Amino acid sequence: MTLFIPDLEPQERSTPSPDAVLVPGWLTLDQQAWIVRQFHSWTQGPVPIRAAKVRGHEMSVRTVCLGWHWQPYKYTREATDVNGARVLPFPDWMIRLGRRALHEAGYPETEAGAYTPDAALVNYYDENARLGMHQDRDERSLAPVVSLSIGDSCTFRFGNTENRGKPYANLLLRSGDLFVFGGASRLAYHGVTRIHPLTAPDGCGLDSGRINITMRTTGLAG
Ligand code: SIN
Ligand code: MN
Repeated sequence: MTLFIPDLEPQERSTPSPDAVLVPGWLTLDQQAWIVRQFHSWTQGPVPIRAAKVRGHEMSVRTVCLGWHWQPYKYTREATDVNGARVLPFPDWMIRLGRRALHEAGYPETEAGAYTPDAALVNYYDENARLGMHQDRDERSLAPVVSLSIGDSCTFRFGNTENRGKPYANLLLRSGDLFVFGGASRLAYHGVTRIHPLTAPDGCGLDSGRINITMRTTGLAG
């Protein structure tokens, strides 16, 4: 009998739905560790990492933003639901990384080269955190969302554009994985159903928990 341990099996690149692409192991361990160091500096920035409140209830995920501050359900330059401070700027290196990500995911060169995300939501999940099924629809632009994961693996549910239910795919997102969703999948419901503790690889920079970065294009000016 072969014991199948999903966290140890190499994963294949996959397209769970049109224009949604999972590229396993895209970031090297050194790149992951470098991003984790940036994460620590962002959390010490003008706007501390916090659990956003949705209809009076704190989310289990904690979020720090770049470029634009996200609060349910809008983007602002000042974190008016935290401390009123202006959010950190969106770093140029992340725009370049976003372009490379679209290229890697197989998006047309013209689209990849022109990609200019201006907001990042950087989420931290401890082992008990979850994210319910939702659409990313606070942006006015339908440019693709680029998602990067570091630390513990999670079960990521990627569904359809109509409702929170089936059909959906349960994907394993591991440290270093890239996931891109745009085009026909841009408004697909998605969520994180479970974090898998003790799965963060040595050298990724994070001992426990999971960081996820999503880059978005808000379509907002000013
Ligand atoms: C999100 O939906 O904003 C985050 C997804 C993830 O953590 O993988
Ligand atoms: Mn989302």
